[in-house]
Amino acid sequence: MLYIKNKLTFDKKNVESLAKKYGTPLYCYSFNKLKSNILELKKYFRSFSPLICFAVKSNTNTKILNEIKKFNLGADVVSLGELMKALKAGINEKKIVFSGVGKTSTELNYAIKKNILLINAESKSEILEIEKIAKKKKKIVDIGIRLNPNTDAQTLSQISTGKKENKFGVGEKVFLQLVEYIKRSQNLNLKCLSVHIGSQILNHKPYQNMLKVVDRTIRKSKYKFEYIDLGGGMGIDYEHDNSKLNLKKYSQDIKKFLKIHKSKIIFEPGRSIIGNSAILLTKIVYIKEGDKKDFVILDVAMNDLMRPALYGAKHKIIPLKKSNQKSKKMYEFVGPICESTDTFSTIKKYQKLKEKDFLAICDVGAYGVSLASNYNVRPKPLEILIKNSKVQILKKRQKISELI
Ligand code: LLP
Repeated sequence: MLYIKNKLTFDKKNVESLAKKYGTPLYCYSFNKLKSNILELKKYFRSFSPLICFAVKSNTNTKILNEIKKFNLGADVVSLGELMKALKAGINEKKIVFSGVGKTSTELNYAIKKNILLINAESKSEILEIEKIAKKKKKIVDIGIRLNPNTDAQTLSQISTGKKENKFGVGEKVFLQLVEYIKRSQNLNLKCLSVHIGSQILNHKPYQNMLKVVDRTIRKSKYKFEYIDLGGGMGIDYEHDNSKLNLKKYSQDIKKFLKIHKSKIIFEPGRSIIGNSAILLTKIVYIKEGDKKDFVILDVAMNDLMRPALYGAKHKIIPLKKSNQKSKKMYEFVGPICESTDTFSTIKKYQKLKEKDFLAICDVGAYGVSLASNYNVRPKPLEILIKNSKVQILKKRQKISELI
C-alpha cells in the first residue's frame, strides 16, 4: 500500500477507481502480498522444509485456496465443508490435516474415505469413533493426538487455545494413555503429535514454552512421531508498528528441537499467509455530529467484518485521498447495524472527512469474509483479486434477491 500524489494505491492500482468501478463494501486482495507472505514463511523455515497446511478457516474462498495450492501448500481443515472446499481447490489429500474438538462421524467417515494425511484427534471419545469407522471400513487410519500444553499464548483470551481451561486437545497425562491405547489398536496408526496454542501471537516466548512441553511429552511417551504439527498462530502487524512475530527466533527454536526429535514439521498458518493481503473498501454514508466525537457512519458493518465487534480487534482505517486538514473532534467509525458493538475504531486527530468519501480498512484477509454473515439481511460483499495488474472477481456480491 502506497500513497502516490496523496492517492492510495494497492498492488499498483488506484484504490478509488476500484471502489468506484466495483462499488462498496469491497474486499480487495493482492496476489503479490499473498505470494510474498508464503515465500517469507518458506524462507524462514527452509532448513527443515515443513509441510505448510493453510488454515482454511481464515479464508475459505476457493480461488484463493487454489492460488495457495500452486505454492505446494496443504490445508488444515476443521469441518466437512472446509475439507470439501480444499479438495475442490485441488489441494492434494495427502497434504490435508483435519483438526477440531467435535468432528462428527459423518465428517470422520468422509475424511477416512478420502485418505487425508492426518486426522488430529482431540479426545479419547473421538479416537474410539475413528477406530470404529476404520474397523468397519477395514482400514488403518493415520492419526495425530492434539496435546494441550497448558501454555499461555499471551494473546487475546478469546483466541487462546493452549491453556488447560480451554476445550482444545488433551493434557499430558491423557496424551500418554492415548499413545499406549493407539499402539495396541489394529486400525489406528499414530503418526503425529499436534499442538496449537492460539492465534495472533507476537512474542516468540510462548512458542518456546510450548516446544519445551512438547519435548517433555515426547520423551515421556518414548514414541517416535513421524510428524510434529505445531499449528499456526503467527501474529501479524495490525498496528503497522513492526510488531509482528520474530520468525527467525521461532525457526531457531524449532531447529534446536529437531536436533533431538527427528520428525517432519507441519504448520497450520492462516493469518500470517492471508491477513495483510486484503483491504476492505467502504464509503461514508453519513457523518453525524456528536458532543465529544463525530460518528462516521460507513456502508460496511460488523456482518462484513466481525473481528472488531467479536474481539475488540483493531484494524487501521485509512483514507483513499490524503489531506492535511485535520478534523476538530475525534471520529468514531461505525457501521449501520443496530448493535453498539458495530463499531470499528475511535481515532483522534484524523484528517477531515466528508460524506461519500472512501476509506480502506486494512489487513482483513484473514477471518474477514470467512466470518461474514447476513445479519440484518445484508448481502455479503464482493471480493476481487489483483494479480498481474489485472482484476479478477473472486466472489460476486451477493444479490439481495438471494436473501429474500
Ligand atoms: N490451527 C488450528 C487448530 C486453529 O485452531 C487455528 C485457528 C489455526 C491453525 C490458524 O491460526 P492462525 O495462523 O490463523 O492464527 N477468528 C479469530 C481467530 C481464530 C483462530 C482460530 N483457530 C480472529 O479473527 O482473530
